[in-house]
Amino acid sequence: EAAEKGGYDHFMLKEIYEQPKAVKDTLSPRLNRHNEIKLDDISLTKEDLERFNQVYIIACGTAYHAGLLGKSLIQKYVNVPVIAEVGSEFRYNDPFIDEKSLMIVVSQSGETADTLAALRMAKERGARTLAVTNVVGSTISREADDVFYTWAGPEIAVASTKAYTTQLVSLALIALDMANKKGTISKEKFNELIEELRATPAQIEEILKMDESIKDVAKVITKAEHIFYIGRGIDYDVAREGSLKLKEISYIHSEAMAAGELKHGTIALIEDGTPVIALATQDRLYDKTVSNIKEVNARGAKIISLAKAKNTEISKSSDHVMYIPDISDDLSPILSVVPLQILAYHVATLRGADVDKPRNLAKSVTVE
Ligand code: G6P
Repeated sequence: EAAEKGGYDHFMLKEIYEQPKAVKDTLSPRLNRHNEIKLDDISLTKEDLERFNQVYIIACGTAYHAGLLGKSLIQKYVNVPVIAEVGSEFRYNDPFIDEKSLMIVVSQSGETADTLAALRMAKERGARTLAVTNVVGSTISREADDVFYTWAGPEIAVASTKAYTTQLVSLALIALDMANKKGTISKEKFNELIEELRATPAQIEEILKMDESIKDVAKVITKAEHIFYIGRGIDYDVAREGSLKLKEISYIHSEAMAAGELKHGTIALIEDGTPVIALATQDRLYDKTVSNIKEVNARGAKIISLAKAKNTEISKSSDHVMYIPDISDDLSPILSVVPLQILAYHVATLRGADVDKPRNLAKSVTVE
């Protein structure tokens, strides 16, 4: 097993470090040097896309959190309403799904029972289906109409890391390809986002160099009993993933909140020294998030912010700041999740937890 870990203490850490390669392997075969996306794996036509009056994105756990970015991008650039829901809820909520619907299921293993059941229900109702999965030949890959593979390579650690980042870039490619086919994105915006996607492997590499300084931040919160993650918009989606990562391997109670919703209840739990991880990577929401940071700061919270490198003034209202390279708001999760993965890893190892095999959890959940 030590050999398989390739010199890393845990599979999770190895997989965190494999992300630049995994993201590159997922992107490269689909992009040519003219900035064109070639998705030979997907047979959806312009006519299909014009027919869909809604898109469902269904997944569980970390894959669901990736699906939330898919929702933002498809809604914004493909001009169609998108509903993202967890697999275990979808079937029992009387979904309105028919032959004018597209369902995208996201699943690392391609075997998750709740996701598979949603896929089967969609097919029964005549919807078109597309799977984003990491396992070739998995049940979900065999049953969906179209399959898009994330080329993350085998993921061993229960806490998903490289599968998530490759799901993000996959959903970005799918959204951009759909928008391009449907004619709902400008050429300039399309090129800009493709160039940004191409830059992400090197940018993740940069973030990995912050490992030691993130470990210092981890030391400050290892004894916490409760931790809150806050963010707005896409930052809230990433906050949910960061919070899940921390709780599943460190066993610290952690909750993600929409920053603007804090005042409607959760702020009552903020006491002197309560750690709050505040994501403020969205340019259009930056000032609003900073004012939410000030609200919790005034109540004694210990603030660990996550911001773009240009926003250094956030350090005035934070105890610690983790910076990510500059990137558009749309694609920020590909970078912003990485410091949160590293933070969760260090908190868990400092607490002596078995990060690769957390209690009560399974890598793939094939029962309902
Ligand atoms: C389990 C794993 C999670 C994963 C979820 C969905 O709970 O522990 O890491 O996100 O299942 O798995 P899938 O294989 O469908 O992505």
